[in-house]
Parts: sequence; C-alpha cells; structure tokens
Amino acid sequence: MSAVPPHLPVEGQDSAAVLARLRDNRHDDADWRSGRIFGLIFHPDDDELEELLAEVSREYLAENALNPVRFPSLARLEREAADMVAGLLHGTPGTGGLTSGGTESIFMSVLVARETARKRGIDDPVLVTAITAHPAFAKACHLLGMRQIRVPVDEGYRLVVEEMRAAVGPDTAMVVASAPCYPYGVIDPVEEVAAIAREAGVLCHVDACLGGMMLPFWERLGEPVPPWDFRVDGVTSISADLHKYGYSFKGASVLLHRDVEQYRTQWWFDDGAWGGGLYGSPTAAGTRPAPPIAGAWAALRHLGEDGYLRQATKVRDATRRLMAGIEAIEGLSITSTPDLCVFQFGSEDVDMKAVAEALAEQGWYPNRQPGGLHLMVSPFHVRVADEFLAALTAAVDLARDGRRSDAGPATYGGTARPGGTGGS
Ligand SMILES: Cc1ncc(COP(=O)(O)O)c(C=O)c1O
Repeated sequence: MSAVPPHLPVEGQDSAAVLARLRDNRHDDADWRSGRIFGLIFHPDDDELEELLAEVSREYLAENALNPVRFPSLARLEREAADMVAGLLHGTPGTGGLTSGGTESIFMSVLVARETARKRGIDDPVLVTAITAHPAFAKACHLLGMRQIRVPVDEGYRLVVEEMRAAVGPDTAMVVASAPCYPYGVIDPVEEVAAIAREAGVLCHVDACLGGMMLPFWERLGEPVPPWDFRVDGVTSISADLHKYGYSFKGASVLLHRDVEQYRTQWWFDDGAWGGGLYGSPTAAGTRPAPPIAGAWAALRHLGEDGYLRQATKVRDATRRLMAGIEAIEGLSITSTPDLCVFQFGSEDVDMKAVAEALAEQGWYPNRQPGGLHLMVSPFHVRVADEFLAALTAAVDLARDGRRSDAGPATYGGTARPGGTGGS
C-alpha cells in the first residue's frame, strides 16, 4: 500500500477513510463476481443468499461460540446445521459439529483416529491415504506427530485398493478415501476402503470436503454416484464443507462421526485447575466466530433441498458444456473421468502453462497444477462457459503459435509464489 512500514495510526481515521483505503488495497484481487475464477470461490449466483449472509454476519458480529451457555442460540444453530448435513449423508443426528473449514475437520478426524488408536495400545499410530489425498492430512499428521503412508492411484487416479490393503498394518489408526479428490475430481473406491477398515478394526474417514454438499444432489439428478456416505458400512467419519458447495461464506465445514463416542473423543476438556474454570472445546480453535456458524445454518435453511438441487443442475449443465467444449479443442483432453464437477484437463503437445498465461492476460483463472489446468465449476459458470471456451480456444492457438511459458513449475492452487494459497 505504501513504502512506509505499516504502523498503528497515531490518530484513528474515520470509517470512510478506512474503507476507501481498504478498497484501494483490493486493486489486484481476482474479480470473482465475473465467474472468471475456478477455485477459492464457489459462486452461487444468488443475490438473495448473499444479502442474507451479509445480514446474518452483522447480526452475529461480536458473539463467540466458545461458550454455549452465554450464547445458546449459536449452539442450537450449530447443532441444527450439523444435523441437517447428517440427514443428507445418512448419518446420525448429534454425532458431529461445525469447524472452521475442511482442514480443521480433517485435523479433528485425524486427532480422533490418533486417540482411538492410543486407547487400543498403539503408540505410533499411522494414517493410510491415497497419494491424491488433500495436503490437510499430511499437515494433520505433522501437527499430531503421526506417520502417513500414501498409496498409489490407478490410471483413473483412484486409490488402488490392493496397495491400501498391503499398507494397513498393526499400527494403522485410520484409512482415508476422498469423495472426490481435489486434483482430478474422482471418488476413491469407498466401499472397498471401508471394508479394509472393518477387517482391520480401524477407522475410515471419507474426505467429502468438496463433494459432501454436492453429491447428494448429483445422485438425485440421476448422475452415477458410487456409494460414499454413511450408507457404506465401515465409514466412521465424513468431512463436508459448507463454505464450498454449501454456498455459505468461508469458515464453515461439518465433521460427522458414525457414533457419538467418536464425537466425544474430539472434545478437549480442562477441569479448571488452570484457574480459569471449566473449559471445553470441540475444535482446534478456542474462540469461535459466530458468523460462519450462523451463516452456514442460514444458507442451509435458505436453499433447502430444492435450492441445492437447482444449483446442482446449473453446475451439472456448466460442467457438461465445459467438458464437451474442452474435448472439442484440438490437442486438449480431460485427464480423468470425473465423478463430479471438478476436473483437470491437459495436453500432450500444447504448453499448458503458456495457455494459462494467455488466459490470465484475458482475466481468466483456471487453477494450475502439474498435469494441466483444473476447474471447479460453480453455478455462476453456466453463464460464462461459452465465453471461457472461446478464450481457451484463443489461448491454445497462441500457445501453438509458439508462445512459451516463462513461469516456474505449477503449484497447487495456481500460484507460483512461495506461500501461495491453495485452490479451495
Ligand atoms: C478434497 C478436499 N479436502 C479438503 C480440503 C481443505 O479444505 P479447506 O481449504 O476448507 O481447509 C479441500 C480444499 O479444496 C479439498 O478439495
């Protein structure tokens, strides 16, 4: 913003000045409202929902969900939101709650696995995932002092069941399947993974951070959806993000367990010996902001089953158009058979980094990853699918005409800068 190092102003500024500076600072942010970004934002194209969420966050601006006795309304909203999702995923009410996002849901699921394994006398619990599992699992293992074994995927990018079976041993705490995985949008064979878990007597987490709020409606639309939720015997927990295809604003995910005992294991209690009284908390955070909880509840109530189905229809239509259009561009192909509205496309002979750069110059931002470009399709994209395909065709032509990329290796989320953020 300025060359002078930031400092606390000696005199406070009025709100108009602060807002002007805040807005000025946004000059290089992605313009997500135009639907030209395919990650980080899940654009519902719903003005009424946006107004509702803004209103809800004002309503709960200051409240703190840390203490459900002081703000019981928040405890009720959290319970209701988690139970609404449990209903969708064929889970049991009262066996889960909200977290701040997919990473925290995954972190808590890994914590539960570690504690459950320790109770079984395992000192050095191990997590077994596919190589395509979200980095949140590696991060959780790092933070919780656990080891992760990553098993390969097949040519369709789905976890290889026999490799997982071979990797599971006496120290295994939990096996993981993605529904779907981020890079390729394919669902791991959840039934087989859960069967391995049952045989080994270990936990089985399904990472449905991406798919949890879309797959139930994809199924209702008659799309082929392999079994992945609590209907699968052996699945013991599921993460599903409300700030992705739940269309709430950031800071909301659900972590559901099959049984309440597992949910209890998630909680931390301090009896008061520290001097500050009884302290109980179900997530990694202490103070918990109220707006994401109230916002998630409001989005679920506002959209309801018919609203989510309407959104899923738009996403499916946009996905079909985009996939067919991409396949029709000479030299490009979708690199997997996605189970949902998330996929990668690439090329044998076109420099995809050059394509990405040409697209960026036109203000389009597909996510960049090592195997090509990646799209997560939102309801709004149905409006701009044709425009994107035209821009993509032009970008491919430019790349064919000899344009070369001068960027470094692609990183997750499409930024080559160190510390770049992920594409969720
Ligand atoms: C499959 C999957 N799991 C977990 C996450 C992590 O979610 P968050 O970024 O909300 O922490 C993501 C994010 O994209 C994801 O795609």
